[in-house]
Amino acid sequence: MNELFRAVLFLPPQASSVALEVDVLHYSVISATMLGALAVFALATWWLIRFRRRGEAHATTPRVRMPLPFEVGLIVGTLGLFLAWWVVGFLQFVRQEAPPDDALRVHVTAKQWMWKFAYPDGGSSINVLTVPVGRPVHLVMTARDVIHSFYVPAFRLKQDVVPGTYLSLWFEASAAGTYPVYCAEYCGLEHSRMRAVVVALEPDEYAAWSQDRRRAPLDGMPQGRMPDDGAGGDMVQQGREAAARHGCFACHTVDGQPHIGPSWAGLFGSARSFVGSDPVVVDEAYLTRSMMDPMAEIVSGFQPVMPSYQGALTATEVGALVELIRSLRDVPLAGPSVELPRTEVPNAPPRAADEEVQP
Ligand code: CUA
Repeated sequence: MNELFRAVLFLPPQASSVALEVDVLHYSVISATMLGALAVFALATWWLIRFRRRGEAHATTPRVRMPLPFEVGLIVGTLGLFLAWWVVGFLQFVRQEAPPDDALRVHVTAKQWMWKFAYPDGGSSINVLTVPVGRPVHLVMTARDVIHSFYVPAFRLKQDVVPGTYLSLWFEASAAGTYPVYCAEYCGLEHSRMRAVVVALEPDEYAAWSQDRRRAPLDGMPQGRMPDDGAGGDMVQQGREAAARHGCFACHTVDGQPHIGPSWAGLFGSARSFVGSDPVVVDEAYLTRSMMDPMAEIVSGFQPVMPSYQGALTATEVGALVELIRSLRDVPLAGPSVELPRTEVPNAPPRAADEEVQP
């Protein structure tokens, strides 16, 4: 039945853990609406013939009243069907929005007109994303210039990718193979050629691929490296280097000691409260927002002294900083509290690398 529907609707193979359930919902919506349309069309045709004009006699049509149970049944039935679809779709959406904790993380940067994939161990590739079958993969995605959209038809997944923030998408490939990735948001002249592939490998093949790559991280990469890549090392190491380069450590600590800005220790995944706005849970999007627009949300107990890093940090550096802060999620906070009394905070903090961050 699944294969029949798939053939009739010209759908690509189902190659992710969510593809079948997405398709089943699609099949049920399309079958019900098609059957409904067919029934209306058939009834209209029959009535057209049955009540066609015959002769000159002009009889008045009697007033027709619909029985109440029929009317109620029709309304409740139709509404119930739509609500059932909504509930099923909403539950699927919620599952697809929450990546499992043990997922393999890959940073995705979209730019006119290519996709760059950076793996946590430091390697990266252009337009080829290699993943293992049967293991969740969490894509942490941002764009460098304009809005793009990461679309993998075989996985039944699509996510807009927006400059200045990180959005996430996760999937679990269910069959080995090579699946096309398209950009699904018009992004300029070469939009239609902004393509990539996901290569899903069996776990043992993936392990071998991963090992090969680690052994020759620089020239063993078939797809090359982007010019703004760090000198090497994993993303956490690249994050430390970027933080040192941009003077982040002048205000932020990594060991939980309170300083001019909030410590990065234990920050990721924790709840944050702010002066004058609602609390949030610290994730990739919040961290990026804080780097680009630090005045938007001032953490309670801190002075609004951080400059914006919009334009000063490359997408790769932001990704590396996010990975660094994420790696510190289990470091306990030192001292009694991170909330410094406001009076002890100096007005003009020393900034080690002021000239570097000027756009
Ligand atoms: Cu990128 Cu269209």
